[in-house]
Amino acid sequence: MADGHPGDLATRDLAVFWHPCSQMRDYRDFPPLEVIGAHGTRLELADGRTILDAISSWWCKALGHGHPHLAAALRRQLETFEHVITANTTSAPLVRLCERLLAAANGQPPTAWGPSAAPGRRPGHFGKVFLADNGSTAVEIALKMALQAQAQRGAPGRTRFAAFENGYHGETVGALSVGDLDLYAAPFRALCFSVQRTGGLPYRRGPHDPAWLDAGASWPAIEAALDTEADTLAAIVYEPVLQAAGGMRFFSPDLLLRLRGWADAHGVYLIADEIAAGMGRLGAILASHLAEGGGRLSRAALPDFAVLSKGLTAGTLPLSAVLTTDAVYALFDADYGDGRAFLHSNTFTGNALAVAVANAVLDVFAADDILGRVGSLAPHLRAAMEAVAASRPYLRGLRACGLVAAVDICAAEGTPLDPRRRTGYAVYREAVRRGALLRPIGDTMYLFPPLTATAAEIDQMAAILADSLDAVVGA
Ligand SMILES: Cc1ncc(COP(=O)(O)O)c(C=O)c1O
Repeated sequence: MADGHPGDLATRDLAVFWHPCSQMRDYRDFPPLEVIGAHGTRLELADGRTILDAISSWWCKALGHGHPHLAAALRRQLETFEHVITANTTSAPLVRLCERLLAAANGQPPTAWGPSAAPGRRPGHFGKVFLADNGSTAVEIALKMALQAQAQRGAPGRTRFAAFENGYHGETVGALSVGDLDLYAAPFRALCFSVQRTGGLPYRRGPHDPAWLDAGASWPAIEAALDTEADTLAAIVYEPVLQAAGGMRFFSPDLLLRLRGWADAHGVYLIADEIAAGMGRLGAILASHLAEGGGRLSRAALPDFAVLSKGLTAGTLPLSAVLTTDAVYALFDADYGDGRAFLHSNTFTGNALAVAVANAVLDVFAADDILGRVGSLAPHLRAAMEAVAASRPYLRGLRACGLVAAVDICAAEGTPLDPRRRTGYAVYREAVRRGALLRPIGDTMYLFPPLTATAAEIDQMAAILADSLDAVVGA
């Protein structure tokens, strides 16, 4: 405790460490949890308790904590080399990761990107991979690439971006600019560039919603808004299907097809921020694949830039990737003196340890059929959340897709609660006491378990959520 013994770890922590995305004062009477180990879906705490990681540690621990295959790959790479500049060098694992990521993003079967995939590149929509070390930076890279590509294809006036209401794309200034969450961006508005913000997304409850694959009613207004800037847009940026930080909202994947058609007709690029939704979270390697509704993947909804991070190393090490097409890449391919190169550099681009782990993640995804597992566990997660909501009328708007399920705590009339009451935060504290790490978004309660969580662990998370709600809001 902050007011405890000066030698206590929590007291020492608060004396020196500034926790991310936190009002530090909150820790005074609810100190940070001291973690001494993490295995599978559970965190071990110094006080002897184990608690469930119901949010996959900020949505990144796709394969749970301490996965032995990832740890072994990391150890092997550590004995070879840990990091070498990738501007002038290459290595077999680096090339292999790019080949495998492209095959997976191009919708090829696991035999094309699993542990025994043949070397070499296969034809497909995406053709090149650029690497960085966190999600926000990768979003910035995609924005920069889109802008430069527009200029180099003869459209230097295309300097604006369109983005959606409730979108979130990270914390650096460009990513904050295209995001729509004032909670994070308001103090920095003076630094942000203006974007064309479009609302009226076709929000849906999930794949069980009869209108899941139909964005027809919402499209005319979105199209009209985009039309107003059709000549100045460089790209449209969006989180495909799942707007995570904006409240765990799902929208119809049909919108992606419509955006693709509009963007092609107007010479505008699409940037799909797959950082939260990709890497299997919604049952596909890219959430952009969901537009096909389970049918054969076509290029019809694939973006010009797909941005991945978080699950890319299953949350083991920081790594992010921007996948793009050969057509975009060709706009940068010229003699050095022409000044068309993409001169973006990050020291840790292609970090060998992170690359080794990302290769191991693809091994596990293919060998353990993680996408199939998400498909079969998703109805279980949804049913567990439905059971929580069924007997608590103040819970509204239940939605679920893949291994994400969310519900909002509302007032009796179904209106939002006064955010100053911080009901969601009180539920979080109660849930920690009862054995699960949640991190509600305001009064939106959600479960975002590791893709390797068992049905029993999901049931436990739902039960703790229910008991915590009863303790805070009332049964
Ligand atoms: C959709 C989306 N984009 C971007 C980011 C930013 O990624 P990072 O935290 O690695 O910078 C996040 C992080 O939560 C995200 O959910």
